[in-house]
Amino acid sequence: MAEQVATFPAKYGRAPQLTVILVGEDPASQTYVRNKAKACEVVGIDNTTLRMSADTTEEELLATIDRLNKDESVDGILVQLPVPKHISEVKVIEAIAKEKDVDGFHPLNTAALWQKKPNSSCVVPCTPKGCIRLLDAAGVEIAGKNAVVIGRSQIVGLPAAKLLLDRNATVSICHSRTSNLAEMTRQADILIVAIGKAKFVTGDMVKEGAAVIDVGMDRDENGALCGDVDFASVEPKASVITPVPGGVGPMTICCLMENTIQCFLNKVQKA
Ligand code: GUN
Repeated sequence: MAEQVATFPAKYGRAPQLTVILVGEDPASQTYVRNKAKACEVVGIDNTTLRMSADTTEEELLATIDRLNKDESVDGILVQLPVPKHISEVKVIEAIAKEKDVDGFHPLNTAALWQKKPNSSCVVPCTPKGCIRLLDAAGVEIAGKNAVVIGRSQIVGLPAAKLLLDRNATVSICHSRTSNLAEMTRQADILIVAIGKAKFVTGDMVKEGAAVIDVGMDRDENGALCGDVDFASVEPKASVITPVPGGVGPMTICCLMENTIQCFLNKVQKA
């Protein structure tokens, strides 16, 4: 990716630019935002992190987004979620110009993804895109397999289910209110877990040979970082499994770099 980006200044006059906005001091978000900036440096993407105080008003944040939407030198805008409770996440997502929406969360990008055959220029949310990338890299066959997604969020669960469907998996979306969850997960050849509960999926819930992707970023009873999957009991049964940390997270950032390049190229190649 860095080699590709290195050719852009000669070809297009400049490198891509990503602006990340962080509102408040949430420690996990601070880490994520720092990692995104580091990745930009490695790839050669110009980047700015705008740190706004936790008492920033919704109006101020929307005005900042509006300014960035109009700024020709900015190709990608990412507002780190969650935003403080007094700010509407929906309004923030809708305010970002769809052409600069590197997260792929804008309703028009969501709608594009949910077409029967999504257009290849559609911006796909980074985490589920990364999950599919990991399955492909591990050589996991997706077509015709039973895939179970635990979690129905806009950021991960819903788009992950659509991406698996697009690859011809038979997809079930489970969640906190699913009554026969273990029965469902035991059918899964591919299990993507994004429920936000530490070590929620245990070995007895997993089919022998399943591919397990853990999107969780939780703390265990000792305060140590862990995923939604109980790695110790699931790993012996899984054919492949992602660790936490060091699994989905880095791949998500990689996909964010790709999405930023995609937004940049869409713009400069149209000009
Ligand atoms: N917070 C947790 N994951 C994400 C993500 O993929 N994008 C944004 N903007 N915020 C997040």
